Amino acid sequence: MDDHESAQILQDKLKNAFDNESIQAFQRFFASSRDLMSCYRCAIMEIETKFRVLNERFSMHHDRNPIDTIQNRLKSPESIRDKLIRKNLPFTLSAIEENLFDIAGVRVVCSFADDIYMLADCLLQQDDITLIEKKDYIRHPKKNGYRSLHLIVEVPIFLQDEKRLMKVEVQLRTIAMEFWANLEHQLRYKKDLSPEILAGIEAELSECAELSALLDTKMQNIKDTIEKEG
Ligand code: GTP
Ligand code: MG
Repeated sequence: MDDHESAQILQDKLKNAFDNESIQAFQRFFASSRDLMSCYRCAIMEIETKFRVLNERFSMHHDRNPIDTIQNRLKSPESIRDKLIRKNLPFTLSAIEENLFDIAGVRVVCSFADDIYMLADCLLQQDDITLIEKKDYIRHPKKNGYRSLHLIVEVPIFLQDEKRLMKVEVQLRTIAMEFWANLEHQLRYKKDLSPEILAGIEAELSECAELSALLDTKMQNIKDTIEKEG
């Protein structure tokens, strides 16, 4: 049997299993979910551009780039499914839009801690941006030592015939915070570590978090001194 024949058999089986209405409902859901994900991609583009513009203008006035790198990610369908289950929410697009604020993510990595607050303030001052939530894990690090500034913002995207407000999670952190978070993230995927090894790694990571915070402060102070004296 060739691929075409097996595809046909599968299609016939599906037709028998579902009535026409269910198939159409499924197709409508599939099309709408693709549309929603595309809107989140547009929102990512808008936010990224805003940071690129800020970087460009800052480098023009101050001769240095506050931003080291910008990354983005769209939450995968598997992660969306898992989070809906975890939060006991229905599998609907409105449940996703109204409850999951991290479908679209933009991460801004800076060299210096002060630039994080400067960039966040510049973004939040813009009249098309609405702050939905702010979590300052730099001034208030998590117990494991995690540091970053998290913002959930709403940004308009302009489509052919409508304007839509989309939520985006923005994470701002220094290179040192990023280095630490990436290593700590790997721990989450190691399910088979013995309790002793795990406790040892957690203690080491906690110490590294303190060292990285100290490094950020020292680097910031050196930069401030150079700028003041220069
Ligand atoms: P989630 O339901 O996981 O999204 O938590 P939340 O809604 O309380 O969000 P929070 O702002 O605390 O964290 C959101 C994101 O920040 C996560 O998806 C990670 O990317 C990052 N993050 C938060 N805590 C940690 C941490 O302890 N370690 C690392 N590596 N990343 C973290
Ligand atoms: Mg999240």
